[in-house]
Amino acid sequence: MSVKKRSTRSKSSQQWLKNHFDDTYVKQAQKEGYRSRAVYKLLEIQQKDRILKPSETIIDLGAAPGGWSQVATSFVGKRGLVVALDILAMDPIVNVEFIEGDFTEQSVFDSLIQMLISKKNGTDGKCGAKCVDLVMSDMAPNISGVRAVDQPRSMYLAELALQLAKTVLRKKGGLLVKVFQGDGFDCYFKELRSCFDKVVTRKPKASKSISREVYLLAKGYKA
Ligand SMILES: C[S@@+](CC[C@H](N)C(=O)[O-])C[C@H]1O[C@@H](n2cnc3c(N)ncnc32)[C@H](O)[C@@H]1O
Repeated sequence: MSVKKRSTRSKSSQQWLKNHFDDTYVKQAQKEGYRSRAVYKLLEIQQKDRILKPSETIIDLGAAPGGWSQVATSFVGKRGLVVALDILAMDPIVNVEFIEGDFTEQSVFDSLIQMLISKKNGTDGKCGAKCVDLVMSDMAPNISGVRAVDQPRSMYLAELALQLAKTVLRKKGGLLVKVFQGDGFDCYFKELRSCFDKVVTRKPKASKSISREVYLLAKGYKA
């Protein structure tokens, strides 16, 4: 019986690999030197909403393998700052600071704040942590396939991203966050609307239509 199980799993992982390498966005990412197909989601949002600008400070949560960070640093340039964080290791990217850790842990949250203070606190001391222009979160839990387990986990990560945004965003800053449609979504949307001037939903073409994932873009933090 265990033999049967093993062979089934290997077939489905082979199918996953086949689908992955057949994927147009995966091929395009390889050709264009991007680390993930996810870059095309951010690039489409950027084209429409112009969320990344020169010299800005950007936080990239759930950054590995680094596609969004590659895009972010190309827009903010050398005078900007990108701080990326992931529970997994990530190969370095020029002009991107990386923190490896589980964002659900308070100590990791604190390290991120400390990093911002050390990088952004000018000699006049006026800047500190509240200097971030945009918090992006593409964090997603390991999907178990059981919606009752996956949905609360993903909403929890989205909540943590909002909590960080409230701590570090400058007035009128923005938040781009991946959320899965399901329990807790409407409530989260309402919460965003109370903190920001405008909230819109984005479903980029590179986001698979069968996936419940959407991106919420909140602009104009009310501080
Ligand atoms: C869809 S991938 C991000 C892809 C990335 N935006 C890119 O363009 O390469 C989601 C990431 O969220 C990370 N993640 C999930 N839970 C996390 C947590 N608790 N703390 C930090 N990162 C987490 C995963 O390790 C994974 O790398």
